[in-house]
Amino acid sequence: MTKTRKRLYIKTYGCQMNVYDSERMRDVLTPLGYEPAEEPDHADLVILNTCHIREKAAEKVYSELGRLRPLKEAKADEGGMTIAVAGCVAQAEGAEIMKRAPVVDLVVGPQTYHKLPELIAHAHRERGEALDTEFEVEDKFDRLGNDRQVDGYTAFVTVQEGCDKFCTFCVVPYTRGAEWSRPVDQIVAEVRALAAQGVREVTLLGQNVNAYHGEAPAGREAEGTWGLGQLVRHLALIGGIERIRFTTSHPRDMDEDLIQAFADTPKLMPYFHLPVQAGSDKILKAMNRQHTADEYVAIIERLRAARPDIAISGDMIVGFPGETDEDFEATLDLVRQVNYASCFSFKYSRRPGTPGAAMFNQIDESVKSERLAVLQDVLTQQQIAFNEGQIGKTLPVLFEKSGRLPGQLHGRSPYLQSVHVEGPEHLIGQIGEVVIETASRNALSGRLVNPEQDAA
Ligand code: SAH
Ligand code: SF4
Ligand code: F3S
Repeated sequence: MTKTRKRLYIKTYGCQMNVYDSERMRDVLTPLGYEPAEEPDHADLVILNTCHIREKAAEKVYSELGRLRPLKEAKADEGGMTIAVAGCVAQAEGAEIMKRAPVVDLVVGPQTYHKLPELIAHAHRERGEALDTEFEVEDKFDRLGNDRQVDGYTAFVTVQEGCDKFCTFCVVPYTRGAEWSRPVDQIVAEVRALAAQGVREVTLLGQNVNAYHGEAPAGREAEGTWGLGQLVRHLALIGGIERIRFTTSHPRDMDEDLIQAFADTPKLMPYFHLPVQAGSDKILKAMNRQHTADEYVAIIERLRAARPDIAISGDMIVGFPGETDEDFEATLDLVRQVNYASCFSFKYSRRPGTPGAAMFNQIDESVKSERLAVLQDVLTQQQIAFNEGQIGKTLPVLFEKSGRLPGQLHGRSPYLQSVHVEGPEHLIGQIGEVVIETASRNALSGRLVNPEQDAA
């Protein structure tokens, strides 16, 4: 059978799980003859992998569809263009998209990507059948298989999907469904395959990754399920894998074994993302976070005791309904107490269907903007101080590609900071020791301890 070559353009919005899913969609479509294109112009298939987390993210879909319309019309004579909307907006508003945007041929929710080939075939026959937003996450991973085509030395691996926490601001439990963990064997097979392709660093993904409780490896039935700490230690044994990270964790799911894993597993990077969202107990309660500010700080202290070089990153929301100046001060206090290496901060966005959207005490946009500016100022200072604190230290850096200037390499520190050094190309894909000499808000630079380091 000869395959006709077709061009596939995927645009990815939102979190790392969407990045992973986009790669898996590409993997599913490659055997059908689809080849990746850099631009949507002349593409045979365009997939928008969308995010519903904040209003701005969701709106982007409709403006992008507006831009695609003339491209689709222009391609009507050369075989046509199929437009698919995937991801969390597809899950949340699939039927509405089909109604509002006739340019869309099919809508596919995050748990049904393995069915893309069927859906595309259907869409070509009849648009009405082209909506699939079932929740069948188990099926998804079984049918996607473990073969992946990656380039580069770092990769994401979804190990857990969905969320049962129902924070009152958040759409994820509605768009990604209930919490579910992949079996250990499946993850091991995928990570082995990645290592064989040269991947040195894996980031394990989950909406609540530290709630991971996957089926224990075959032949170990007596063990039932494994937690994330056990999984991490097991993956650290795979040859070629030098670095392990995971994201995103929830304070409520932090257990002693995972904290211990930071102490006993050197391949687990000492950089930990633990969102808290707010520093006031009243607001944390209204958000249904199920923990207090003190409990959060206590977890950070235990982590720092277990791994003294650990750095913390987080997420914050300002302007949740009912947030007073005093509540906001509590957020600033907590930020000063934790001292983040890096932290994302957002204005609360009222999301349809979430309990927060129905609360009567919404905060003015202008107040949200003011608070965000104050918070970001503190966080930026903390980030700069953290980066400057690396000057004079020797850090292991995983070199990922050549730098912008000739003879330069670009890599990442254990803390995900960008690091630039002068060095030979053959170090790309390897870890080298770098003495840090300069630091800015977003990057470090330094010199190789051993410029003669051989290729591995
Ligand atoms: N599962 C993760 C992250 C989910 S979304 C967790 O539990 O923390 C990523 C971040 O987006 C959240 O941590 C939160 O800071 C932000 N976010 C989620 N919903 C939001 C909303 N309605 N408005 C503003 N920010 C939001
Ligand atoms: Fe959203 Fe909360 Fe679940 Fe995170 S834990 S995905 S913020 S509901
Ligand atoms: Fe967005 Fe869905 Fe991720 S809403 S943040 S793409 S889980």
